[in-house]
Amino acid sequence: DTVDWDPEDAGKGEFDHYMLKEIYNQPSSLSNTIEGRANDGEVTFENLTEGTFSDVDAVQFVACGTSYHAAMYGGQLLRSAGVRTEVLRASEYESTTGPVDENTLVVAVTQSGETADTLEAVREATSRGARSLAVTNVVGSTAARTADDAVYIRAGPEVGVAATKTYSSQAVTLALLTQQIASDVPGGEPAADKAKLLESLRDLPEHVEEVLESSQAEAIARERLDSQSYFFIGHGLGHSVALEGALKFKEITYEHAEGFASGQLKHGPLALVTDETPIFAVYSGRGDEKTKTNAIEARSRGAPIVAVGPDDHSLADAADTHLSVPDTHPVWAGLLANVQLQLVSYHAAKLLERPIDKPRNLAKSVTVE
Ligand code: G6P
Repeated sequence: DTVDWDPEDAGKGEFDHYMLKEIYNQPSSLSNTIEGRANDGEVTFENLTEGTFSDVDAVQFVACGTSYHAAMYGGQLLRSAGVRTEVLRASEYESTTGPVDENTLVVAVTQSGETADTLEAVREATSRGARSLAVTNVVGSTAARTADDAVYIRAGPEVGVAATKTYSSQAVTLALLTQQIASDVPGGEPAADKAKLLESLRDLPEHVEEVLESSQAEAIARERLDSQSYFFIGHGLGHSVALEGALKFKEITYEHAEGFASGQLKHGPLALVTDETPIFAVYSGRGDEKTKTNAIEARSRGAPIVAVGPDDHSLADAADTHLSVPDTHPVWAGLLANVQLQLVSYHAAKLLERPIDKPRNLAKSVTVE
């Protein structure tokens, strides 16, 4: 007798898909990312000495897809640490960059280290004199080899085309990097509560575990399966999480999904809102009143609201259903909400019988411009 056996399935273990395996791997991949980098209230990267960024006066993040959303997360943190920061879509680099010189640090955020648009943006920036840093998952990748320095996110191999664990590891790496850049750059201000921030980071893997163990994402995905469009809203750090939630959802379900800054809903998208457009309202730890008022507005037009955040937050009162995340520092809250959204996308795609690990038309790494 022969058994159908696809060697590519060998690594999935008990999971139906690589994507689910990689979502469930996050407590461990995040521990690897953090290991040795956040000790005694200080951030340390193996290969970046203190003061290495003291000549930097502006930072540009360049990235594509999910990595762009992680870059938005890190970029916002760096900006609020007083450092001049741009977050640019790599494919738009030439037409959107501000001035660049030898005091500019260009940070390429790329899981694979092989995305052509991102590599080209780095080439363009370095040809204008910028210093470059690759934040990547792949040791020896083109980005790691061509940039002046490389920081590894240490998430382990990711097989699913839709990025999950590498997003979490990128966001955490960038949040840590932000602390180092802000201490080195003149005028930069590391977080006032840095010790607390780093301490709560140590709980992040465990908090992710709690989300994975108790998530109601499958029930919510099932409940909303026949919808017309799926909207994701969030403010501040939650905005980038909303964009990532929508990207993941459209990538693997083939259903229409869009992410918005909470306050932008009323400036157009509200025209699309009906009882057929569920809205995932992402808690971000700060300024969530905006998300709440806009969710209430959409709800009064019939939209079912799913709050994604801690139990005791008032956002939950504005919602029909709730995906809960443990209480944590505001900087990490969005990453827990994102795990819930990863699960919503996964379960929706599974119920719709989509080929989750290899969505049509998409590639893990896009090496053409
Ligand atoms: C492709 C993948 C996305 C990924 C993007 C950037 O579009 O399908 O999942 O986020 O490339 O990839 P990178 O390797 O540069 O992070």
